[in-house]
Amino acid sequence: MNSSTLAVDVSRLIAELDFVRHSPPEDEAARKALYEAIRGLSFSLETPGLSFQRIAYAVSLYLFTDCPFDVNQPMQLHMAQLANDIKLFDILVEQKDAPTTTSELAKHTKTNETFLGRILRYMASYSMVTEVSEDLWSASNVTRALNLPGLKAGISYIHDVNVPYIQAMTKVFAETNYVNPDDTVTTVFQRGHNTDLKYFDWLAEHPSHHKNFNLWMTAFHESQKSFLDVLPFDEMIGSHSKVDTPIFVDVAGGLGHQATAVRQKYPGLPGRIVLQDLAKVIAQAPPTEGLEIMEYDIWTEQTLKGTRPFMMIPYLFLISCALLGYSGAKLIPQTGARAYYFRNIFHDYPDPKCVTILSNTMAAMDEQSVILIDEVILPNKGVHWYAAQMDITMMLVLGALERTKKQWEALLEMARLKIEKTWTYGDELGNSILVCVKKWEDENSLK
Ligand SMILES: C[S@@+](CC[C@H](N)C(=O)[O-])C[C@H]1O[C@@H](n2cnc3c(N)ncnc32)[C@H](O)[C@@H]1O
Repeated sequence: MNSSTLAVDVSRLIAELDFVRHSPPEDEAARKALYEAIRGLSFSLETPGLSFQRIAYAVSLYLFTDCPFDVNQPMQLHMAQLANDIKLFDILVEQKDAPTTTSELAKHTKTNETFLGRILRYMASYSMVTEVSEDLWSASNVTRALNLPGLKAGISYIHDVNVPYIQAMTKVFAETNYVNPDDTVTTVFQRGHNTDLKYFDWLAEHPSHHKNFNLWMTAFHESQKSFLDVLPFDEMIGSHSKVDTPIFVDVAGGLGHQATAVRQKYPGLPGRIVLQDLAKVIAQAPPTEGLEIMEYDIWTEQTLKGTRPFMMIPYLFLISCALLGYSGAKLIPQTGARAYYFRNIFHDYPDPKCVTILSNTMAAMDEQSVILIDEVILPNKGVHWYAAQMDITMMLVLGALERTKKQWEALLEMARLKIEKTWTYGDELGNSILVCVKKWEDENSLK
């Protein structure tokens, strides 16, 4: 059923609810009835992603806002993890819509019936399961959402990894006099986990958390639009490419989802598509036809450059150089790749570190090269709660940040890059693709 066939006029209903928001009923019974109706409505309107956000991030919402529903929200995350541990959601989802008794569920989950009855009662009050009638339960839309493999992994990751450092936050900020953190080595994360390791190094040492993180991130990105939905890659980046032209370098590309997506969208486009990351990460990347995999450390100068056609080098000049003992390979001028692509890299670092990464890339660029930055751009005003939550997560884990439009402009100016074009393709988060070119005029004036 779409909105035009609904019995209610949705726009009118929204306007009426907006009116109530500004003039809530004074009558206590009416206020309570309205509250319960809206609370139930909001649960039933949830997509799997929204159910996940409400439950998994209840801890952070509780700490950072005036708590929209009630102060026991953090318990939902722990209850969802408990359901994961005893495989309760698996069992309810397997039953399809057939209601199951408490005693049957206790048998399947190997738990005590009285204990499980109390847990189920709590879960039903948050729509995490449906209470069909007394002692009879079935899966709700929220049960099914939380049982999706990516979201289940996300619940475990947030329960095990995020909760300890969020607990440490207020103490750390009081001790550091409430300054904006920009230290990537000693952040709230290190205190919460009692470690000296940087976040990504710590994650690599905790394979089960790392696996949950990757499963969750993969599911998250699969449900989102991509930069390829808005950027005409073949015309803008790939035009007149040859088989040996590096057309797309996915720098710090993890397991290579984006590089693979480019190859799949443009199977006939000539040119090299390359995934770069640290050795231990690329070791886990699945081999993909038409994708080169290469070790590269972003703190060193970019090594991937194209090569100008051999015929352009005067033959006699090369022979003379060879006779004088110069290496022919060194004398063939190199070109940059067409596009160096970075997704979710710069939001991991404060500005000076980003400038280092960008400078290392710019050293390899030529006039045809661009840097593609695939990141969130926050509006200068009126940031969505989802994006604000992500920004705080970056602050606590990495001493880093999501950037506003103004902050991106300032950072790229610092790096001597010019934004040639920007497309925004994400709704709440404001995911965008920035096409950046080198400010050659600045470089030439420095010579
Ligand atoms: C937030 S993930 C983003 C991965 C990928 N770009 C994506 O969007 O799915 C950050 C990536 O940076 C990589 N990374 C961290 N330090 C690095 C380094 N020094 N050199 C290269 N890659 C690095 C990590 O291995 C990880 O794959």
